[in-house]
Amino acid sequence: MKNDLKLSRQVQGLNGSITVPGDKSISHRAVMFGAVANGETVIHNFLKGEDCLSTIQCFKEMGVEIEEKHGKIHVYGKGWDRLREPVNILNVGNSGTTTRLMLGILAGLPFHSVIIGDDSIAKRPMKRVTEPLKKFGAVIDGRDDGQYTPISIRGTSIEAIEYDLPVASAQVKSALILAALQAKGTSVLVEPAPTRNHTELMIEQFGGEVHSKNNTIRIPGNQQLKGTNVFVPGDISSAAFFLVAGAIVPNSKLELPLVGLNPTRTGIINVLERMGANINVQEQNEGQSEKTGTITIESSSLKGIEISGNMIPTLIDELPVIALLATQATGSTIIKNAEELKVKETNRIDAIVNELKELGAEIEATDDGMIIHGKTQLHGGKVKSWHDHRIGMTLAIAALIADGDVYLKDHECVKISYPEFFADLKSLLQ
Ligand code: S3P
Repeated sequence: MKNDLKLSRQVQGLNGSITVPGDKSISHRAVMFGAVANGETVIHNFLKGEDCLSTIQCFKEMGVEIEEKHGKIHVYGKGWDRLREPVNILNVGNSGTTTRLMLGILAGLPFHSVIIGDDSIAKRPMKRVTEPLKKFGAVIDGRDDGQYTPISIRGTSIEAIEYDLPVASAQVKSALILAALQAKGTSVLVEPAPTRNHTELMIEQFGGEVHSKNNTIRIPGNQQLKGTNVFVPGDISSAAFFLVAGAIVPNSKLELPLVGLNPTRTGIINVLERMGANINVQEQNEGQSEKTGTITIESSSLKGIEISGNMIPTLIDELPVIALLATQATGSTIIKNAEELKVKETNRIDAIVNELKELGAEIEATDDGMIIHGKTQLHGGKVKSWHDHRIGMTLAIAALIADGDVYLKDHECVKISYPEFFADLKSLLQ
């Protein structure tokens, strides 16, 4: 109990405005594209969470100069050709995005490297990228035939592939796109369902070419990219915690400016609208490749819904906090086709079902998701984050509506994606 965080309970309401930190997916990609492009890239509103700092560290190991000046990250791109064989092992920490996307880059670079990460990374499936990257011609090995870290890779001059992705995963798609940009010939990838398209948008921003139509992506090879300015919008996956908090805590009204509103990421807004929440979205920058806007949310009476199919990739990271939201909706909420949750930072189905039950929720795990019956009064209890940032933040929001004390174990992991989370939450308490 000594290091457990005691969280505020049954607060009187949340009020105010929070500018959430930069988008994690876009911050990773801005560093990666900046590193392999020619010339300087300046990243505005970069997320200084631990995952994105791991990406910076890995590219420094490959000889890329990256520095912070006046709050902006400057990446002095080397082009594909001048990245250097790393002397040290590349340590990705807790970051699946770094692992998978970097493997795509390394596949076409003519040197050897080894990737390791933390205990969670060591359990995450990597064959989904190592298998297709081998088809491009890269030499890759790892525990269990390339399934788990440590993974070693020797890149080479690679050849374009045509490939149907077996899972709807933006990380897999992006890894293969990053390899395809370096390959000889045009690669064709087919996704089972649309996933976040930040990689595709960023290629165009860096002066490259990619063609997407009806889940098919064509990537001409041998592309040279050019450094540019990247403005990172606020992370809708971080905003999600406050959107749910605003909806479920009585007497609340919150404003979240400058949130990324890329339609491949806005499933949480759709869910809140379908559940009947008092939510309003004002788009700001028509014309920019990554849309942004201001979202306002007020305390709401909610009803249960079904969340399944092509919706899932648009809100995959928000499902733990959506489970909490559903505990406050009248009727049942059914989440289906979300088996990918089992291979995130932790098994997020087991984690959220166990921890929310600890607080009195009526929630059950299914093979590919969960079922939540509402509305329930949550009570106090001892919960743990499972060292997963999104589980930790969800439980901190749950504590706001519990009628007893909630103690959260292993809360430090919020630093992965939202280092100021607890300070920002405190600033909204009345
Ligand atoms: C991400 C894609 C998602 C998401 C992860 C970040 C990305 O993973 O869960 O947090 O930046 O491409 P999958 O695409 O593997 O589902």
